[in-house]
Amino acid sequence: MIDLRSDTVTRPTPAMRRAMAEAEVGDDVYREDPTVNRLEERAAAIMGKEAGLFVPTGTMGNTIAVKIHTDHGQEVICESRAHVLDWELAMLAWFSGCLLRPVAASDGILHWRDIEAAIRPKSAHSAPTTLVEIENTHNMAGGAVYPMDVFEDICANAHDRGLKVHLDGARIFNAACHLNRPVRDLAAPADSVMFCLSKGLGAPVGSMLVGRAEAIDRARGYRKRLGGGMRQAGVLAAAGLIALEEMPHRLGEDHANARFLAGELAKLAGIQIDPARVQTNIVIFDVTGTGLATTALTLALKTRGLLMNGINPRQMRAVTHFDVSREQCATAIAAISEALAAKR
Ligand SMILES: Cc1ncc(COP(=O)(O)O)c(C=O)c1O
Repeated sequence: MIDLRSDTVTRPTPAMRRAMAEAEVGDDVYREDPTVNRLEERAAAIMGKEAGLFVPTGTMGNTIAVKIHTDHGQEVICESRAHVLDWELAMLAWFSGCLLRPVAASDGILHWRDIEAAIRPKSAHSAPTTLVEIENTHNMAGGAVYPMDVFEDICANAHDRGLKVHLDGARIFNAACHLNRPVRDLAAPADSVMFCLSKGLGAPVGSMLVGRAEAIDRARGYRKRLGGGMRQAGVLAAAGLIALEEMPHRLGEDHANARFLAGELAKLAGIQIDPARVQTNIVIFDVTGTGLATTALTLALKTRGLLMNGINPRQMRAVTHFDVSREQCATAIAAISEALAAKR
């Protein structure tokens, strides 16, 4: 099967498997796992932050980040298709007692003027807005990347207004690759950053939350509360270290494959996509004109050896990653073309 459902499907590389087998471990709840400690230090250093915390998932990282920046009964601004809003089971409400105030941006990229308009007035009738949550790259906006100046402007203005900024950087290394900037430049203006080791970087498990030392200390307590105290987690952190050090440099290949897919998809009758908007490893395309709903197309592709999901009845999403080659992308296009011809 060629699997374009997500970059989460990558399997650990032989180097990761070796490192996992040989990892030095200890009890991480006592902070005695040397491999986890090394991963947390490296993640913080690479992101230019004071401290880091290894968490099992991106969802837990975002959940804890919101908790450390807010109190119950406050508002958090995010874009209207944000992962934290649509795909994290309302954890923000459940764990932090906060309300998300979504702001729509057609290309997924918020600007300060949009955010400013959504800040609740200080009054007896409004809950205070205390946090802005920004997703870079923006998954449901097709892997869109925040231009540096737009993100810097958001953070500077948010800080002036006394708001914190959390960056959901699940794919921040993809954004850095697209901008050709060190990832620490993208992280610098934010108060905290969550990024995933288990997506484009290819680790089997794990995400990182980085920020101020005092905030990460509190985050460690919330991780334990959520059941994320993982004991001899060095076996996972060992793969994470390889993901962090050795995988970012190759993300450009995934982006080139995504552009290839977009260019070929644009040639197929009934499919709508603007290849110029594909910046990273996510390709979202509209299949309305083919007469097939995404559920039907998903099934037709599965029988042809291709895994790909719809994100709604009209749009499919293909994600490129370490475990799909250019040749497999070409085979994927042939499978889609065949499925559309069969429908006709
Ligand atoms: C932008 C974004 N943030 C957070 C997450 C959550 O990561 P996890 O699946 O590890 O909980 C994802 C997962 O796809 C994501 O795409």
